[in-house]
Amino acid sequence: MMGKRGISVTPEKTPRKPRKPKAPKAAEAVPGPAVTKSDHAAKLLAWFDQEGRKLPWRNQAGRNQAGPKDGRHPDPYHVFLSEIMLQQTTVATVIPYFNDFIDKFPTLAALAAAPLEKILTAWAGLGYYARARNLHKAARHVIELYGGKWPESEEKLRTLPGIGPYTAAAIAAIAFDQPAVVVDGNVERVISRIFAVADDSKSPAVKKKIYQLAASLTPPERAGDYAQAMMDLGASYCSPRQPLCGLCPIFRHCDAYLLGQPEDFPAKKPKLAKPVRFAVAYWLRRGDGTILLRRRVEKGLLGGMMELPCTHFKDDEASGFDLAAARAAAPLTTAKWRRLDGRVVHVFTHFRLEIIVLAAEVRLADGNLGQWIKPENFAEIALPTLFRKIASHALKQGA
Ligand code: ADE
Repeated sequence: MMGKRGISVTPEKTPRKPRKPKAPKAAEAVPGPAVTKSDHAAKLLAWFDQEGRKLPWRNQAGRNQAGPKDGRHPDPYHVFLSEIMLQQTTVATVIPYFNDFIDKFPTLAALAAAPLEKILTAWAGLGYYARARNLHKAARHVIELYGGKWPESEEKLRTLPGIGPYTAAAIAAIAFDQPAVVVDGNVERVISRIFAVADDSKSPAVKKKIYQLAASLTPPERAGDYAQAMMDLGASYCSPRQPLCGLCPIFRHCDAYLLGQPEDFPAKKPKLAKPVRFAVAYWLRRGDGTILLRRRVEKGLLGGMMELPCTHFKDDEASGFDLAAARAAAPLTTAKWRRLDGRVVHVFTHFRLEIIVLAAEVRLADGNLGQWIKPENFAEIALPTLFRKIASHALKQGA
């Protein structure tokens, strides 16, 4: 139902009720009629025809020769390639990569026939390389299973490697004008403002609600242009901070604007402080200047990666930093371990880790403690950032 300050996700039959607006910030407040599909979409599409970004994948030529107004559908291959690249990367970064790919692999068939190595090399620097492998696999699927003709439904697109629900919806809408509901981060913000969604936008129930609200506005025609118009609006005027409501083509349809507080949407729960864990790391230097490294067990955090030896991460400081216990559990108990100054702090997704470092030197040491590697050669091994930080902490103190 509509709340005083926006809607919540409790069941709701009619998406909006007119309400009294608060003083607006950016433009004169004229309480608009309840948003309807057709006037919302018509206003947005008219704006897109004038102001939509001219991006290379938005026309047949694959270059900035014509904008969204050219009336032609973009090449599905261009849409597919751009959507995969845009999954974790900004538009500005993607543009030169996209153009380079179209030069190197001008057609889907060329991409499918290319060796994976060549694709990975062209992808270098874009990150998340699984995308490049899946790109190749999906291209081969379309050639081999569909004879090079793209499936047009979201459902079939979703069966292709690397194509999840969002990407399938985006390709179906943009390449084939299917009325698919396309909700990326920008669109989520626009929708949560139009409807002043007052609940935490990170929760799955609210995400589902936002998807339903987006579906209620998606027009049956020009769905691809509409999806890109929503993306462009979110990427321009409807920015997270200081949105330019005065310029927005649909401000009269926007509850967050009418409330005078568009920046308050999407609503977020205040972030909880991360839990802290504590551990001791060992910096053991051998007479030849090498340092002891080991491989972590396969399971768990940083599983199978190289490490500087360290104790288990503990929830409480007293046991995590118990130096007597750490000396007893050291990889070489006969060495003279001294505590280095300060702590190393590393923040993982779910917790913050604080580490203190015990350092020691030995002339010779048993060969099966692990691998002995000079610090100047650490760059050549896949040593996670946490251990690089510990190494730099120790080296700074001359250990
Ligand atoms: N982000 C994801 N897909 C996009 C598109 N087609 N245009 C602009 N930004 C996007």
